[in-house]
Parts: sequence; C-alpha cells; structure tokens
Amino acid sequence: MPALRFRSIARVSAVAIASVLAAGLLTSCASEPDAIHPTAPATKGKETPKPVAPKAEDPPASPEVSAPEEPAAPESPAFDRAAHSLDDPNSIWVIANKLRPLTPQTYTPGDLVVPNVRNTNGQPLRQVAAGATEQMVAAAAADGVAIHLVSAFRDYDTQVSIYGSFVANQGQAFADTTSARPGHSEHQTGLTADFAGDDACTLDTCFADTAAGQWLQKYAADFGFTMRYPDGYEGITGYFFEPWHYRYVGVELAQEVKAQGMQTLEEFFGLPAAADYAG
Ligand code: DAL
Ligand code: ZN
Repeated sequence: MPALRFRSIARVSAVAIASVLAAGLLTSCASEPDAIHPTAPATKGKETPKPVAPKAEDPPASPEVSAPEEPAAPESPAFDRAAHSLDDPNSIWVIANKLRPLTPQTYTPGDLVVPNVRNTNGQPLRQVAAGATEQMVAAAAADGVAIHLVSAFRDYDTQVSIYGSFVANQGQAFADTTSARPGHSEHQTGLTADFAGDDACTLDTCFADTAAGQWLQKYAADFGFTMRYPDGYEGITGYFFEPWHYRYVGVELAQEVKAQGMQTLEEFFGLPAAADYAG
C-alpha cells in the first residue's frame, strides 16, 4: 500500500506516543562511543524491488525473450549466521516480533546508557547501540544532515501504556499494525531507536523522503542499523511502514543484509512471516 495512506495514521501515532512518554523516562550515565568508523563511505544501497505477485493477466514468460533472473548476491564467505543467538534477549541479533516475544517478556537490558545526542525523550539504549548512535549522528552532522533520537529503550510497563493507548483510541486491530504488544517490542531490547530530522515528518512516513530519512537509508548499515519495518513488508514484519525505526544489529549483519538485498531480518534468517500474533 502506498506510504501516503499511512501519513495521517502515523501523525496520530506520534501524538499518542508523545503523550504516553510525557510521564517520565529512564535516564542513565553517558556512554563511550564504540570504534565505528565515522563518515564511512557507504556502499551504495542496492535498490531491491518489492515482492509483487504476478498478475493473472500477465502472459507466461517466453524462455526465448525473458531476461535471465539476476542471481542473489553471494553471501560473504566470512559471514557466520550462527555468530549470535536470535533468541537470547541479550544478543545483538535477538529477533522480536509478533511470533517471537522476548524471554522473559519483562526483559530489561543491564547496560543502558543515554547517548550523547539530541534526545527528545531522554531514553537510553544499550551501550553498543548508544555508541553507534553517537557515531552515526555525528557522521550525518558532518554531512550537513541533522538527526536526533525520538524514542529508544522502552520498558515493559511503558509499552503497556503505549499499546493500551492505541487500543483505547483506535481499536486493537489498528493498534496491532503500529504498536507492539508488551514483551514483543524491539524497543524493549534497548537496541532500537526512532530517529527524526529537523522537519515536519517526525514519526511520519514522509520521513522516508527527508534529508535525514534518505541519509539513514544510505548509511545506517555502516553504523550497524537496519530499517526494521520497510514499506510493503507488513505481511512479514506485522507493522506498517516505519522509516524512522532502526534496529542495531551490528555492522557485520546490517551490511550483509543490505549486500544481500534483503529487506527484513525474518527473510534473512529464514524465520516465519510474523504478520499476526499466534493467539
Ligand atoms: N512501533 C513498533 C512496532 C513498536 O511498538 O515496537
Ligand atoms: Zn520504533
């Protein structure tokens, strides 16, 4: 579905989240940035076509005239898909989605720090993600692009409030397309950040077209972040397009996912599509 359709929805979402977050949030000490190279000359993002179902009226492809299918990019021989757990909530590769709640569902990371960047709600991140955020925001600034944090770690109880607010205001069906149920949110891992720029597109799908949104699409992988809810993949991720929501997975995985032309972590790791909750 086109991004435009979600703009008014996203604005409502932003207001709902802001009102819930106004209640007060965790703070902690500043972090030491990790040694991630700044202003990395990122490999150009490979545009990958969205999955499109063949139309019934499409004629069958003729073997004589059809172009050869482009082979998938070969996986880096050095890449180890088992390097980190997908299940352990302390793992930088933990996958949380509608079918994969965090275990325990009340998990809270033990190394939260507040990154030294402009930070609307003052929320912390896990140390490794905080350092990467500092490096990435500095690199964007060096390129003349202002990026700041809007939302980062949210604990179980905060997610109870946010999700509950969506349900109360817009119903459960809508809530489940835009807000994770408590225990299922990537924000609870401390590895996820919602970013914004100096524009009117905070937590809005139009962020994808802003200078900040475009910069992140090009370079976030070089700092270990991957956009988690891309446009057109609601059937896999379970959520509407969120061009502001980036998940830290480490540089190695983020760059490998990008190099492979993959759009979701579920596809990359061969996990089931998580459009809906199991029960
Ligand atoms: N907005 C994302 C899905 C969350 O609530 O974690
Ligand atoms: Zn988010």
